[in-house]
Amino acid sequence: MYSFLELAQQFETKFDVRHFPKQPASLYDAAQYILAIGGKRVRPVCVLMGNELFGEINKDAWQVATAIELFHNFSLIHDDIMDKAPLRRGVPTVHTKFGEATALLAGDVMFAQAYDYLTHIDLSYVQKIIKLFNTTSKEVCEGQQIDMDFEQMQNVSSDEYIHMITLKTSVLLAASLQLGAILGGAGERNQQQLYAFGKNLGIAFQIQDDYLDAFGDPDKFGKQIGGDILANKKTFLLLHAKEVANDAQKKEIDTLLELNAADKVQKMLSIYKACKVDEWAKELKEKYYKAALNNLEDVAVLSARKKPLHDLAVYLMERES
Ligand code: IPE
Ligand code: IPE
Ligand code: MG
Ligand code: MG
Ligand code: MG
Repeated sequence: MYSFLELAQQFETKFDVRHFPKQPASLYDAAQYILAIGGKRVRPVCVLMGNELFGEINKDAWQVATAIELFHNFSLIHDDIMDKAPLRRGVPTVHTKFGEATALLAGDVMFAQAYDYLTHIDLSYVQKIIKLFNTTSKEVCEGQQIDMDFEQMQNVSSDEYIHMITLKTSVLLAASLQLGAILGGAGERNQQQLYAFGKNLGIAFQIQDDYLDAFGDPDKFGKQIGGDILANKKTFLLLHAKEVANDAQKKEIDTLLELNAADKVQKMLSIYKACKVDEWAKELKEKYYKAALNNLEDVAVLSARKKPLHDLAVYLMERES
C-alpha cells in the first residue's frame, strides 16, 4: 500500500508530460501552464487509493486519475473567471495571464482531453465510468451556479451552504474514490460506502478551503486571501458571523456586503475574529471529518488496507494550501 505522498509523486511523474499538441500555442500553452505549476493532486490520488483498496493499482486507474486531474484543472480555470481570482497555486490565474477568452477555451479543451484518456480504459468498464464522470460533472456545474446565485442573496441557510459545497466540491472527491473502486472490482456496497466517505471528507475539505481563504497564510495558500469576502461568497464563516453577531456587527456586515470598500476584507476579518467564526468552522469541519471516518469504518476490507485513506483524511484536515 502506498501513502498519499508516494502516490502523489508517482502520479506527478506520469502526469508531468505535455497533454496537448504544440499548435496553436496561444491555446495549448495556456492549458499546459496551469497543469505544470502542480497542485496537491488530491483527486487522482483518491482514484488510485480507491483502486488499491481492492488490489494492485491497475493500468485503467492511472488513465482515470489523469482524466480526473484534467477535469479538476478545467473546473479551476473556469472557476477563477467566475470568481475573478487573480492568483492560483502562487501564480497569476490563466485568465489573468492569457485573457478570459483563451482561458475559457483552455478549460474546454482540457475537459475534452480528459475524455481522451477515458477512451483508453477496458471496454467493460467504460460505460459505468463515463456515467459517473458525467453525473459528477453536471453536479459540479450545478454547485458552481448555486455558489454564484448565493453571491446575490442575503439569506442563505447552513443547509443550503452544505448542499452547495457538496455539489461544487465534495462529489468530485467522492466520485474519484468510487471510480477507483469500480476499476478495482469492488462490490456495490463498498463503492457506496467509499463514496459516502469521500462526500463527507469533501465537505470538510471545502470548509477548510473557506477557512483558509479568510485565515490562511498568504505565502502557503497560493490564492488571494479574502477573495471570498470580496466576492460576497456565502461561506459558513459569513453565515455564522451573521448568526452570532451583535446588532452593530450585523449592521456593519450588511454595509460591507453592499459596497466594495478598500478595507472590506480587513473589516470583515475583524468581525469574523470577534465572532470566533474560525472556531465554529473548525467544529463544523470536525463533524464531517468524523462522519467520513465512520463511513470508512464501514467499508468491508481489512483495516490495514484503509490506513492510506485514513492518513489522507488527516492530511486534508490539516492542510494549509
Ligand atoms: C481547489 O482544490 C478547489 C476546491 C475545491 C477548493 P485544491 O485545493 O485541491 O487545489 P489544487 O489542485 O491542490 O491546487
Ligand atoms: C471551487 O470552490 C470549486 C470548483 C472549482 C468546482 P472555490 O471557488 O472555493 O475554489 P478556490 O478557492 O477558487 O480554489
Ligand atoms: Mg474560486
Ligand atoms: Mg468558486
Ligand atoms: Mg475557495
